[in-house]
Amino acid sequence: MAIIILPKIIIINEGVNLMIRKALVCGAAAVFLLCGLINTGFAEDKKGPETITLTATGSAKPKPAVFPHKKHQETLKCTDCHHGAKDGKQVPYTEGMEIGKCESCHNAKVLAGKTKGPLKLDTLKGAGHGNCLECHKEMVKKDPALKDKKLDKCTTCHAK
Ligand code: HEC
Ligand code: HEC
Ligand code: HEC
Ligand code: HEC
Repeated sequence: MAIIILPKIIIINEGVNLMIRKALVCGAAAVFLLCGLINTGFAEDKKGPETITLTATGSAKPKPAVFPHKKHQETLKCTDCHHGAKDGKQVPYTEGMEIGKCESCHNAKVLAGKTKGPLKLDTLKGAGHGNCLECHKEMVKKDPALKDKKLDKCTTCHAK
């Protein structure tokens, strides 16, 4: 009984750090199989949707971008795309960090007037092109097969 009930009680205690929770659960249960199951359970919960359609809020000319999130998670690291902010500067993603919508920072208020080259970082387009399009262009240079797949073309993300 104790083995089954204990992990449940610990899981609902939100305040406890993920690593500590895992350690507590694993230590208390002392059953390797159970630890394995609990680990995958945590990871899946925090991974977000499998597919996301990104659209700028209140856009006069919306140009939705379809994003296969899960597919990217299979080959890339969370930190390739996600980050946080402190004092107006970017801070790298760390495991378990709260993940916000890009637009919650990349908007006309929070990052007003910020740019990176030609990219306006105070728009979702700037964040999206700076992250998605830049990487796709890089990848095409490295892998000709991805050029054939038109990875860097508008219609890859913005379906007609
Ligand atoms: C190729 C880029 C990319 C990678 C890699 C990636 N994500 Fe995301 N993720 C996004 C984008 C873009 C969104 C949509 C954000 C938005 O709606 O503004 C998102 C959304 C999310 C959300 C939902 C956030 C919300 O509030 O709607 C979670 C949770 C999340 N990602 C977790 C992860 C984790 C964990 C990893 C690593 C295992 C990961 N992501 C890898 C780009 C990425
Ligand atoms: C918590 C706030 C916050 C969130 C959420 C956030 N960003 Fe950022 N982002 C920043 C800050 C701050 C900077 C740095 C601005 C500057 O250089 O002055 C930045 C810079 C960038 C840059 C330019 C620098 C670089 O790394 O190339 C890109 C591109 C970018 N973000 C894309 C995204 C994308 C895509 C998402 C969603 C998956 C996202 N950001 C979510 C705060 C945020
Ligand atoms: C760090 C690199 C990187 C970033 C960032 C990135 N991608 Fe990709 N993306 C790739 C690679 C590599 C592929 C090709 C995968 C394959 O077909 O082998 C891909 C494939 C795709 C595809 C085609 C999927 C398919 O099934 O053919 C779409 C659509 C896409 N990305 C949209 C986006 C969007 C939208 C964003 C930003 C929210 C984004 N990507 C960010 C590297 C990236
Ligand atoms: C790798 C993915 C990707 C590619 C390729 C890409 N975009 Fe985007 N684009 C995005 C994302 C993500 C956004 C932000 C979300 C949105 O508004 O769709 C965006 C936003 C935009 C917007 C702003 C829409 C609005 O409502 O404000 C325009 C315009 C745009 N893109 C045009 C283009 C054009 C033209 C090309 C080809 C040169 C292109 N994009 C290629 C991902 C991409």
